[in-house]
Amino acid sequence: MLERLTRPLHFSSLLLIGILCLGSTIAFAQSVTVTHLTIESRENPLGLDVRQPRFGWVLATDERDVVQTAYHILVASSAEKLANGEGDLWDSGKVASAQSGQVPYAGRPLESRMPCHVKVKVWTNRGETTWSAPAHWTMGLLYYKDWRGRWIGFDHPFPWDSIATIPSLSARYFRKEFQPKKEVASATAYIMGLGLYELYLNGQKIGDQVLAPTPTDYTENVKYNTFDVTEAVVSGDNAIGVTLGNGRYFTMRQNYKPYKIKNFGFPKLLLQLELTYTDGSTEVIKTDGSWKGTADGPIRNNNEYDGEFYDARKEMPGWNRAGFDDRAWLAAEYVQEPRGDFEAQLNPNMKVMDSLKPVSLRPLAGNRYVLDLGQNMVGWLKMRVEGTRGDTVHLRFAESLQDNGDLFVANLRDARATDTYVLKGGGEEVWEPSFTYHGFRYVEISGYPGTPSVDDFVGQFVYDDIATTGTFESSDPLLNQLFRNAWWGIAGNYKGMPVDCPQRNERQPWLGDRAIGAYGESFLFDNQLVYAKWLDDIRLSQRADGALPDVAPAFWRYYSDNMTWPGTLILVAQMLYRQYGDRAAIAENYPAMKQWLAYMQERYMTEAFIVTKDSYGDWCVPPVSIEAGRGKSADQKHPSALISTAYYYHFMQLMTDFAHLLGEEKDAAAFQALGGQIKEAFNREFYHPDRGYYDEGQLTSNLLPLAFGLVPEANCEQVFDEIVKTIEVEHQGHLSSGLIGTQWLMRGLTENGRPDLAYQLATNTTYPSWGYMVEHGATTIWELWNGNTAAPSMNSQNHVMLLGDLLIWYYEHLAGIKSDDEAVAFRKIIMNPYFPDDLRYVNASYQSVQGLIRSHWQKSKNRLTWDITIPANTSARVYLPTDEVKNIKVGNAPLNQVPAVRVVGTENGKTVLDVASGHYQFTIRNPR
Ligand code: BGC
Repeated sequence: MLERLTRPLHFSSLLLIGILCLGSTIAFAQSVTVTHLTIESRENPLGLDVRQPRFGWVLATDERDVVQTAYHILVASSAEKLANGEGDLWDSGKVASAQSGQVPYAGRPLESRMPCHVKVKVWTNRGETTWSAPAHWTMGLLYYKDWRGRWIGFDHPFPWDSIATIPSLSARYFRKEFQPKKEVASATAYIMGLGLYELYLNGQKIGDQVLAPTPTDYTENVKYNTFDVTEAVVSGDNAIGVTLGNGRYFTMRQNYKPYKIKNFGFPKLLLQLELTYTDGSTEVIKTDGSWKGTADGPIRNNNEYDGEFYDARKEMPGWNRAGFDDRAWLAAEYVQEPRGDFEAQLNPNMKVMDSLKPVSLRPLAGNRYVLDLGQNMVGWLKMRVEGTRGDTVHLRFAESLQDNGDLFVANLRDARATDTYVLKGGGEEVWEPSFTYHGFRYVEISGYPGTPSVDDFVGQFVYDDIATTGTFESSDPLLNQLFRNAWWGIAGNYKGMPVDCPQRNERQPWLGDRAIGAYGESFLFDNQLVYAKWLDDIRLSQRADGALPDVAPAFWRYYSDNMTWPGTLILVAQMLYRQYGDRAAIAENYPAMKQWLAYMQERYMTEAFIVTKDSYGDWCVPPVSIEAGRGKSADQKHPSALISTAYYYHFMQLMTDFAHLLGEEKDAAAFQALGGQIKEAFNREFYHPDRGYYDEGQLTSNLLPLAFGLVPEANCEQVFDEIVKTIEVEHQGHLSSGLIGTQWLMRGLTENGRPDLAYQLATNTTYPSWGYMVEHGATTIWELWNGNTAAPSMNSQNHVMLLGDLLIWYYEHLAGIKSDDEAVAFRKIIMNPYFPDDLRYVNASYQSVQGLIRSHWQKSKNRLTWDITIPANTSARVYLPTDEVKNIKVGNAPLNQVPAVRVVGTENGKTVLDVASGHYQFTIRNPR
């Protein structure tokens, strides 16, 4: 026997085993694949200036219970080398790890312009995958000296320009012809065109971006974009053309509150086009004094607030092609370069993301028409028109109409929001602006030759080119409408930074508006890069003394010193770590956070540990009734030491976590100690033991301490009862919180045992509520709870701040899709939905960095079915609404027969399971 077992295997048996192994490898290879390989969270990015870019990938499989055990990354300097398995830049070898995101490059130093090609394979408990499809990136220009050209432009106005308070500056056009000396193998363009640029090569527009580059504080940093233009270069004569708009460089209001508004100068350009010839030699075409320029083209003025004026009679046919007679053009001038560092843009540019067909066109008196897009949106109108040379069409934009059918523009303040088009005549003309955008649903059209029809117009919806990651549908049409309104509002306000509103003369990236909003938004949009960039903006706007502003980039210099607006630096960093696993968001900004907290402590914390300084209080708290707020301005600040002290405490908790994460143990101890002192002081100062509430008992005054863990255990019930009383009795089932309180409201109610009350608030249609906005025709979210009756001066109809934590609640508590606090970025998913009595189903999905998570629950008589998808390499803790295990089936099988599912126990009458990755359908009989 022994002899038989130890006998050498016969060749044919070996062959058989070999075939079996091969077969199983193939089977494994097909069952798990590595997909969606990203570099710095982008697909095949060009011009990165990150020296250790981070990789991420998603495992795709139909199998259950797939766990990654190791990965292998190869990075090569050419596609051929990569294909041959040669990682000449980096061969990570097999690394035992479950990590599938934020894996940093650790190979040979990367230099300017280097092309890099990457592929990944992984090992899972199911075996080894094949290599992923290759991905690639290129390095940008890493050093100042890499920029060979000089800044060109015209640092002065022209006779037709005005730089008064409301400026009108024409677009600047620049051109340069060149002839490649040899056969071109590749061509790359690097461009910094400020404020905004459009780049053409031989008449062809390069890229599909609009309103590029992303706005920054140009005294801090200036972003360049990189394009592969190999296909656009021809042999013989070529021409580069660049149009420059004002953007935020030549800012929208000049000499207007100069103490407040930052101005940067006149539009300018630095560009280089690098040609690599087939023999390996290179040539650089760069901006210099040989370029020609004019400011006398068709874009007569352009301004983010006021619109664009385009005179087609001034078009210069062929100006961006070779052979154009530019003798009348001026020599480009050398101009002052911007102060900021030159950096590669990592966040996506804006794009026309969708086109909307108008729903109606109605005539108004005086040969005017009103076009209705059916949706409050952000972008512009594309128009088709035919008429006589010199005919002039005016397009005025507004969010709503007056009773008489005219536009309501009072809430735009002095933003003119008007585009003008002068026809050249001679046939059909199609036009859309280049350097402006509007927040609007309605457009007044005047001067249109002939009779316009809806088919002559298209609404171009413009926002950052990021993916929608979340879907949500339920049996309640109001919840669905709110979700849609939120989606439209959030998308439209992504402008390379999150702005407060898109329509009036403001459009500023106010920090406080997104403190927690960013977290809710992250379920709907892949907003990682937008917010990572915004944290850079915030950090760079920090003053030397440590102060952080309320608006960043600080286009408006508001350093009002408070905890809630600047504290967004901390909360958004936490969001990026929690939702995307972006540890760098914390690491890079930690010193700035620490410095700011020390600054606030030193100046505004009393010896008794109370933070006295606040600016806005619970901003935009609802007036007690519609009548009380009618016609009134909401611009009233109610600074509150309770709010600032509570937030200081909350930040101490977060900073303690951050410090542990970064291994800053001494800091952690200090933050914790200070937090302890604040907690004591807070309760001493603000809690009334006799009444059982904080301060004057307002909703927000009780919510914050409860949400932040400031309330001693023994008082929690009493404080929560006060909250419930405030909502149910004092406000007859309505919220009474503004920007601050609403950020903690829905979770606060749900996590303290009253999800039904949260549900009531979410579905209310009477004032004040989100549903009230919908009832009054909102297709986005309003700035004010009483947005239909308040004074127009501060009354935007497309502000997202009042969403508070509503969207987090949709996902984490209605759908039951939440990341675990420790296994962040959905490595472990907490699926514990609340099943409201009035809701029959919720069907939601979220494209997490680990892959698609789904939750679809549906009630029928005595039964609940719940379909869930848990991505590979993650697991979920799932809460089923029964404590009877025998009432649960997975597919057709009883619970205990499904190997990937393990019962952990029961909690509050729910059965708690640990579930491995995969799709499951749970059926629960007689759910609670
Ligand atoms: C903005 C707000 C902002 C606030 C702070 C408003 O004008 O639109 O969103 O947070 O000012 O004062």
